[in-house]
Amino acid sequence: MVDVEVYGKMLSTLPDDDDHPYRSGPWRPQHVEYDAADLEVTGELPDDLYGVYLRNTENPLHPAIVRYHPFDGDAMIHQVSFRDGRVSYRNRFVRTDGLLAEQEAGRSLWAGLAENPDVAIRADGWGARGRMKDAASTDVIVHAGVAVASFYQCGDLYRLDPLTLGDLGKATWGGSFPSSYGVSAHTKVDDHTGELLFFNYRTEPPYLHYGVVDASQRLVHYVPIELPGPRLPHDMAYTEHYAILNDMPLFWEPELLARGLYASRFHPELPSRLGVIPRRGGSGEIRWFEFEPTYVLHWTNAYESGAEIVVEGFFQGCPEPATAGPGGPKDRMFRFLAQDTMQTRLHRWRMNLVTGATSEEDLSDLCTEFGTIHNGFGGRPYRYNYAATNEPGWFLFNGLVKHDTLTGRAERYQFEPGVFCSEVGVAPRAGGTGEDDAYLVTLTVDMNRDLSECVVFRADDVGRGPIARAQLPERIASGTHSCWAPGESISGW
Ligand SMILES: [Fe+2]
Repeated sequence: MVDVEVYGKMLSTLPDDDDHPYRSGPWRPQHVEYDAADLEVTGELPDDLYGVYLRNTENPLHPAIVRYHPFDGDAMIHQVSFRDGRVSYRNRFVRTDGLLAEQEAGRSLWAGLAENPDVAIRADGWGARGRMKDAASTDVIVHAGVAVASFYQCGDLYRLDPLTLGDLGKATWGGSFPSSYGVSAHTKVDDHTGELLFFNYRTEPPYLHYGVVDASQRLVHYVPIELPGPRLPHDMAYTEHYAILNDMPLFWEPELLARGLYASRFHPELPSRLGVIPRRGGSGEIRWFEFEPTYVLHWTNAYESGAEIVVEGFFQGCPEPATAGPGGPKDRMFRFLAQDTMQTRLHRWRMNLVTGATSEEDLSDLCTEFGTIHNGFGGRPYRYNYAATNEPGWFLFNGLVKHDTLTGRAERYQFEPGVFCSEVGVAPRAGGTGEDDAYLVTLTVDMNRDLSECVVFRADDVGRGPIARAQLPERIASGTHSCWAPGESISGW
């Protein structure tokens, strides 16, 4: 056992000889909180790289009650800050209510994704299915100058200072936070308006809500959205004037749900539906459009083009694979983590608001997911996204692909075997105007050298490889989402 200090207390954590596929190797949890100023840099760190890169990771502090799933891990935010050619690093656990309670108890108290809710010790909990811990370990964004960590099953929004990673408490939105539903991961920040768009979902009607928080962190819009049954939306999209919600045919099997069991099943006989609603529109104003059946975990962007709404994201050729593939972990639960077996590929959906016509097409035959963009182009016509390729069978990223959605061209960079990266942050060059006049920032898990680095690419020359790298104090665990916040968006810096 390893003893680490969190909240000023020494905790016993997971054993060193853990052999769970997502709690060992590149997913080995990391438990020490560091503040490391002025990291040593190899290569040329540009002076005009100014801002912070934040990455959320899964770092469980206690063994699961029965079975661990990597989405159950306690959130740790890694932050790398860049200014004037200097780079610093710090990391912090997100002080969630669930982590606090489990620290007091010295054990896991809630059921994870791979467990029946009945195994939970506590009768309460978070999440659309209930009796889960809101680990806040899925997503991280910066809205109104505050970093916000969130959970894919819906929960609280945990606020942190983006520079110090100091705990700023949970979002309250002046008392209007929808606590009984929570908010899903993948809130969207529109840099043009300063608004935060969000959704939540659950198994009782109304099954979905959509809302808007303004730049002053006030809830200014919140409406129920009618669905034919409980669904599992993971992400949403937006354009200048519309929000785009989804009803995909992969959801908890209703008959099992009625018995308190949660099994995701794909229904190829049902269409995928995209719902377009004016950003401040009422429930009755949503318009649904039908497409080929699939599941979409992540949208890259959406925009308006004349009468059309264009949405891009990752179509899954096989939303419910039988296994994680020959090279992946054997547990069937982990098959939904391997994007190569789900056959994820960049795709475009079009909806004509005047004629009602729809069309859709693949933009690439490469298997990629976790695409990020220059957020200044969010909701507006754009050209590039930067996505990840995966280690076959695993939720591990082994390379980057710059997708040119105009020409279909893809520019690739492959890390050496045993080196994995994180979802990239797109850091616009200070003073730059072009969409790819930017840097890409990612964190590596280097199993060959047993270390992690922060690595910087030029967005206009991804194939060249890293232009600068800085070693972190310790090898980090792999994890989920990340974001980039420009320096000027952080007050007092
Ligand atoms: Fe996600």
